[in-house]
Amino acid sequence: MNLRGICPRKTVNMMNVRKVPLIIGLTILTLSFSMFTLYMTMFNHGPPSEIMEANRHILLKPQNEVQLAVGEEDEEDEEVSESVQSAKRWQKFVDDNKYVAIGDVFDSCDNKDRITLGKAILLPDKETGGLKVRTFINITLEQPLTEGEFLIDVKYNGKDLYDNHWEFCTIDENKEVRQVFCPYKPGFYAWATDKKIPNTSVSGKYYTRAWLNGDDGRMLTCGLTTFVL
Ligand SMILES: *[C@@H]1O[C@H](CO)[C@@H](O)[C@H](O)[C@H]1NC(C)=O
Ligand SMILES: *[C@@H]1O[C@H](CO)[C@@H](O)[C@H](O)[C@H]1NC(C)=O
Repeated sequence: MNLRGICPRKTVNMMNVRKVPLIIGLTILTLSFSMFTLYMTMFNHGPPSEIMEANRHILLKPQNEVQLAVGEEDEEDEEVSESVQSAKRWQKFVDDNKYVAIGDVFDSCDNKDRITLGKAILLPDKETGGLKVRTFINITLEQPLTEGEFLIDVKYNGKDLYDNHWEFCTIDENKEVRQVFCPYKPGFYAWATDKKIPNTSVSGKYYTRAWLNGDDGRMLTCGLTTFVL
């Protein structure tokens, strides 16, 4: 009786043992599939050219409450504000070069009559095979810039993702390619700086606000970008 009782149990155990590799196999398969799905939805941005196209088709809401109607003549209206004129000048720069613009640089973040000082555009990065953001800024400094502060605020799919701030003059002192060379004397500067988009950035919609405060703490420029990866 006892023996009979044990035997079937042993058989059951044996069956379980045989099933173990199958269960492990299935688990690994499921896990890899989940990882693959995660990878595909989160990190697979597709080729840079596709991301460029996707961003070309994002309709940026007019950041300045200005009419950027094509072919509209300014000459008749002498009252056209510097705000409107600067916005048009930079839009023309983007159109003429067929750039994919993902943002604007202003002299203020929120002022309604803010003046457009530049554009942020998306470019393929030959070094990494990914993408980079090039920011053009034409700025006239009234005061010397010998320190200053650079601040950034990033939102991802509408949620706060990251914010940080750095001393402007030493921001890239450890980088291979330096782009900031303090001190800056008062005068006109045409800046073009590059920032690589990390390869591992998660797919989704990004919104960034980056601004530079001068030595006296007053805002010099504010850049606002919107893009999808
Ligand atoms: C920015 O400055 C450069 C250099 O002076 C000039 O060639 C360019 O036309 C300016 N861009 C705009 C849109 O004003
Ligand atoms: C970035 O991604 C591209 C495409 O997936 C790949 O070819 C390239 O090697 C990656 N670069 C780095 C630095 O990881």
